Amino acid sequence: MHRVMVCADQEELAARGAEHFAALAAKAIEGKGLFRVALSGGGTPKLMYCLLSAPPLAKRVDWASVHVFWGDERCVPPTHPESNYRLAQETLLERVPIPQDNVHRIRGELDPQAAASDYAQTLRKHFGLREAQETPQFDLIFLGLGADGHTASLFPNTDALKETSGWVAANYVEKLKNWRITLTAPAINAAAQVTFLVAGEGKAKTLKAVLEGSRQPRLYPSQLIEPAQGDLLWLVDEKAASLLESR
Ligand code: 6PG
Repeated sequence: MHRVMVCADQEELAARGAEHFAALAAKAIEGKGLFRVALSGGGTPKLMYCLLSAPPLAKRVDWASVHVFWGDERCVPPTHPESNYRLAQETLLERVPIPQDNVHRIRGELDPQAAASDYAQTLRKHFGLREAQETPQFDLIFLGLGADGHTASLFPNTDALKETSGWVAANYVEKLKNWRITLTAPAINAAAQVTFLVAGEGKAKTLKAVLEGSRQPRLYPSQLIEPAQGDLLWLVDEKAASLLESR
């Protein structure tokens, strides 16, 4: 089951997403002493990261107990303008007192297969997973929606969509003529909370197809995201939601 929350505009979307982060962080830290969140890339989350990096929200979060991961990464160095790590570093992480050891980036500068194995090892170590059949359970995973229906770096008709047990995949994306590193659908679906952030009229047609169209996950990989036990929230703005029947 999923919930759709329609926000008036991108500003409200960012504010609700940031509040969501702070509330879930407080709950997880109170309950088990730490909060594990996977951030998304692209442009939509930027304003949310900025809001989280400044008072009042920045003061509400116990950053020493927050562990930051990524849902996906481009195969570029961390200083590259396209790096999802760099985006979060510049808009949030370098502005808050989060210990460097709590930032678990995907090493996009490595060879794709090596980067995927390295990140899987990071997850195994951090989550204390022994066997392959165990899956890391993030407290919160933010996702975006591409106009082509992709999420994280699970792009239409790519090999990573077939992954049914691994947590991390190196995924060659023909249309980008490049590799990406991504959490797989099983890893995302193990999360306690998955939240999409979707804004702009450019996403309206795709959002309608994903939420209200027939199930075609190879064409619309975002349809693979159905948390087993967790909660799925779509935070969308009016423009992106403009074609939805059910609102
Ligand atoms: C990435 C993201 C990707 C993104 C969507 C939406 O690495 O680009 O993880 O999945 O969330 O492409 O991007 P926008 O927010 O820029 O529309």
